Amino acid sequence: MQTVIGNQLATAIDHLQQQQLVAIPTETVYGLAANALNEAAVIQIFEAKKRPRFNPLIVHVPTIQSISTYAHLQPLAEKLAHAFMPGPFTLLLPKTNVVPSLVTAGSNKVAIRIPQHPLTLELLQQLPFPLAAPSANVFGYVSPTTAQHVYKGLQGIIPYILDGGACTVGVESTIVEVTNQHTVIVHRVGGIALEAIAAVAGVPVILASEQQEATVPNTPGQLKSHYATTTPLMVGNVASLIALYPNQNIAVLGFNTLYPQLPEQNQYLLSPEGHLNQAAQRLFDTMRLLDTAGYDLIIAENFPNEGLGRAINDRLHRAQVQYK
Ligand code: TXA
Ligand code: MG
Repeated sequence: MQTVIGNQLATAIDHLQQQQLVAIPTETVYGLAANALNEAAVIQIFEAKKRPRFNPLIVHVPTIQSISTYAHLQPLAEKLAHAFMPGPFTLLLPKTNVVPSLVTAGSNKVAIRIPQHPLTLELLQQLPFPLAAPSANVFGYVSPTTAQHVYKGLQGIIPYILDGGACTVGVESTIVEVTNQHTVIVHRVGGIALEAIAAVAGVPVILASEQQEATVPNTPGQLKSHYATTTPLMVGNVASLIALYPNQNIAVLGFNTLYPQLPEQNQYLLSPEGHLNQAAQRLFDTMRLLDTAGYDLIIAENFPNEGLGRAINDRLHRAQVQYK
């Protein structure tokens, strides 16, 4: 199959209406989309990504009003929806019968998101169905933030990549669930900071365990071997890690400060001016760059654990080599 990169909404619509896959731009990462209401279309997503069927998919819709067709929106969830949608924010909600169980991997909850990208919002408005879309990377690899990243992983496997430029947020959406109207559980840290959610929610905002080892994603994003580069990556105290591997060709992935232990050209600063949003936006592109630059080892530092720094740290820790 020939994979075309273009910016034609009409072409994307044609493919999707024929139950084919289209990679779509969002502000977080590129998604691999199919008609969420058609099982034959959705199955192709799992096959193209080599993703296990037990890992459910986010359903993308155009408006808050349209959510009620697919899910039940209680008052606190609705308040959060109005604050953060469209945006890098996903609500895990009780589903209606309209959503095929293949999409939710058998769960009675569905993850719903309204992406904030003009091209994809327009696409969703024109389509008569919502789009199931995971990140458009091969399962386990770093998520794509440009059309070219998608092409590298999925060329020959999908017919069309809708090119909407580089993603402006750069890390996936924050996934939250409201329980009993009393608590907000954050299942995946992402493009909306916890501080912002807490400010709106007016109830406790609790982080679902980030580091728990899981083979089945009992909460979203819990599979550990995720976002991984082929080159081994380690996170921690950069100076001591460098000292541990004296004979390796090392790249350092840092925030805004150079380390005297390594030549400057081996160090990649995500935001020399110290902005966490900018660092998040560059994270996956830089991880992909380092992965193909011939290094033996990537050493990343821990970022400040606030704002989008939490999402950066989460992705880096998941990308880390498991000690064998
Ligand atoms: O920013 C994003 O959320 C991107 C863009 C494309 O929208 N999408 C994305 O999808 O990151 P994906 O599939 O790579 O990650 C979604 C996470 C997965 O960890 C999945 O297990 C979880 O959400 N998830 C989806 N539906 C769920 C459900 N019904 N119950 C529990 N977890 C769910
Ligand atoms: Mg993903």
